[in-house]
Amino acid sequence: MKTQQHTEPKEIILTGDRATGPLHLGHYVGSLKQRVALQSTCEQNILVADMQGLTDNAHNTSKVSSNILNVVADYLAVGIDPSQTTICLQSQLPALAELTMFYSNLVTIARLERNPTVRSEIQSKGFQRSLPAGFLTYPISQAADITAFNATLVPVGDDQLPMLEQTNEIVRKLNSLAGKTVLKECKPLLSNASRLPSTDGKNKMSKSMGNAINLGSSEKEISAAVKSMYTDPNHLRVEDPGRIEGNVVFTYLDAFHSDPAYIAQLKEHYQAGGLGDGTTKKILEECLQDMLRPIREKRAMYLDDKAQLIEILSKGSQLSREKTAQVLFDVKGVFGLNIL
Ligand code: TRP
Repeated sequence: MKTQQHTEPKEIILTGDRATGPLHLGHYVGSLKQRVALQSTCEQNILVADMQGLTDNAHNTSKVSSNILNVVADYLAVGIDPSQTTICLQSQLPALAELTMFYSNLVTIARLERNPTVRSEIQSKGFQRSLPAGFLTYPISQAADITAFNATLVPVGDDQLPMLEQTNEIVRKLNSLAGKTVLKECKPLLSNASRLPSTDGKNKMSKSMGNAINLGSSEKEISAAVKSMYTDPNHLRVEDPGRIEGNVVFTYLDAFHSDPAYIAQLKEHYQAGGLGDGTTKKILEECLQDMLRPIREKRAMYLDDKAQLIEILSKGSQLSREKTAQVLFDVKGVFGLNIL
């Protein structure tokens, strides 16, 4: 007798990036690689977060508008496939803005002010005295992004964990108001790659700090970035023993080199003395150049055909408007507003 085949429903993923600059190597190890791997087994949605990008750029709007297609080209260049992943533009999905309004009633200002990521961003952006309301509340809009798609899995870097925590608090509040499960809680999917440091070793790699190697960086830019990388300041002569800890060249070799056994040997040699920074930098540069060359070329090819990028984003946004309508209807229902 034939038994009926039950196919498990696919896990739903929603993730996104602020469209405030081109994506860099930190994004690549932190989440882009994972997204490429997940797209064939999960229902993956990726949001180009233009509205979130505006929360700290309202007076510098071209920083957002001019980067939307760059980010889409970055996605495609690393292998995100629009036939498997829905790529959409946040501002084109009215349900997200509407959900944000409803959820705003479930979150206190004090709770928003406690969000550690928002707190540190307020400091670093100098917003202590003129904090835009939209900036303080962007975690609510991020909760709208995630829940609108019914997403249960969110691949992000660890700086986003407080957003997911706030999202799940909103989910629980709404469900308790409803007296039943309307929204699903989500889980982060953290990559096991440790956070990539900036080339000077002082911070994490970041779009805003100007310390990044971008996916589209030129050969020359990559070369200059590797040459200026922070190593071991006490490793003055080739024959001196060197330190691996905090040595950015080795952190990058660990993250990107395809032969870990070779890197382990290299580390031993470096620690024992007799291996110069010029040599380790040369090895890293070759590895990064080989990895980024095809990505840069594909990226340039995609950016050469803007109409195609717009088409991809437009189709993905249309599909996403359909996907997000039900959750908005359900949430309005919880507030008793489906009366017309
Ligand atoms: N906050 C994310 C960033 O800084 C972008 C983002 C917006 C996002 N909406 C999201 C990430 C929803 C995950 C899920 O890049």
